[in-house]
Amino acid sequence: MNDTFLKACRGERTDYTPIWIMRQAGRYLPEYQELRAKYDFMTLCETPELAAEVTLQPLRRFNIDAAILFSDILVPLKGMGIEIEFLENGGPILRPPEDLRTLRTITPEEDVPFVLETIKILLGELDIPLIGFSGAPFTLLTYILEGGTSKNFLRTKRLMYEEREIYTELMGKISETVKRYLKAQIDSGVHAVQIFDTWAGILTPRDFMESVLPFIKDIIGSIKGRVPVIYFVLNGGTFLEMIKDSGADVIGIDWRIDIGNAIDRLKDGVSVQGNLDPCELFLPEKRLFERIEDILRKGMRSSIKGHVFNLGHGILPETPVDKVKFLVDNVHEISVKLRSTHA
Ligand code: CP3
Repeated sequence: MNDTFLKACRGERTDYTPIWIMRQAGRYLPEYQELRAKYDFMTLCETPELAAEVTLQPLRRFNIDAAILFSDILVPLKGMGIEIEFLENGGPILRPPEDLRTLRTITPEEDVPFVLETIKILLGELDIPLIGFSGAPFTLLTYILEGGTSKNFLRTKRLMYEEREIYTELMGKISETVKRYLKAQIDSGVHAVQIFDTWAGILTPRDFMESVLPFIKDIIGSIKGRVPVIYFVLNGGTFLEMIKDSGADVIGIDWRIDIGNAIDRLKDGVSVQGNLDPCELFLPEKRLFERIEDILRKGMRSSIKGHVFNLGHGILPETPVDKVKFLVDNVHEISVKLRSTHA
């Protein structure tokens, strides 16, 4: 297996900078759209042969260094007792039970057997590492309480401020689900996991520290040392030091912070993942080349353990496929050259 990605996560020397792309399996690929014309999104997620096929699609086109399980962060919520629907051209809609205290913790082998089956199929096919993932408890809680995405997340924040006990109880239950879900994926053989905290960046740094971080530490502590853990907080640039405190091996950063600045603040002891703005894939090639080179150069600073190239958030459905190939090939080529001039 080509384990360049895992080496970068662990901070070992690599011949080039590895790259994978958040949401690499998905809507910008015509072959994904073709499958989606035949099956709805949940059917793709719940049918192991189809989910495995979607994971493999981008790997046939691009020389990427890691595969990601095809599923969604909301999938395990079904097993907790929440109805979920993905609208054809919009976000998800969630219908939680009236009494949130009735939510259950999942048993992965019973509630999401198809995820574990997908992993088994993929392990037989791949010659690069497979990344498993989960949503982070706070991000999952926002979807449960807001019923989908939200502008101010007032329901979630009010629960946090006004009904602290229920907030803590719910976050505890979701965290237990996340722990079991990640453990089951690791037991099934994934080589690394990413925890997506898409909405924790809407919090004040103090609320993040008091109301999110303890749960993340607990989750990461429960799997620490088994496989590399990547923790990605969208909009987390203002409290990077606290994010580092999570215990993750790799800190995912978005594009709102300069990666050199992020590296200086993270200091030693962790690797970093990121951080091209997904919109920059619409730049003309020459400017895109310069942006890639700048990120790679900063990612080689000696204070950081390792650098995994990625976008700062998921790839946009409108992205031209040839630009993705340009990105992947140039990350490899430029990083090889930079290493030879550094040596
Ligand atoms: O990264 C991958 O390629 C693996 C699969 C994956 C999906 N979603 C597939 C998907 C992963 C890792 C996710 C994570 C996810 N899902 C997050 C965290 C990352 C982020 O982008 O912030 C969040 C917040 C969700 C929730 C979600 N799922 C939303 C808001 C939507 C609708 C809008 C959108 O971004 O697509 C989804 C649907 C979804 N998840 C699709 C895919 C390929 C599109 C479904 C379709 O085909 O219509």
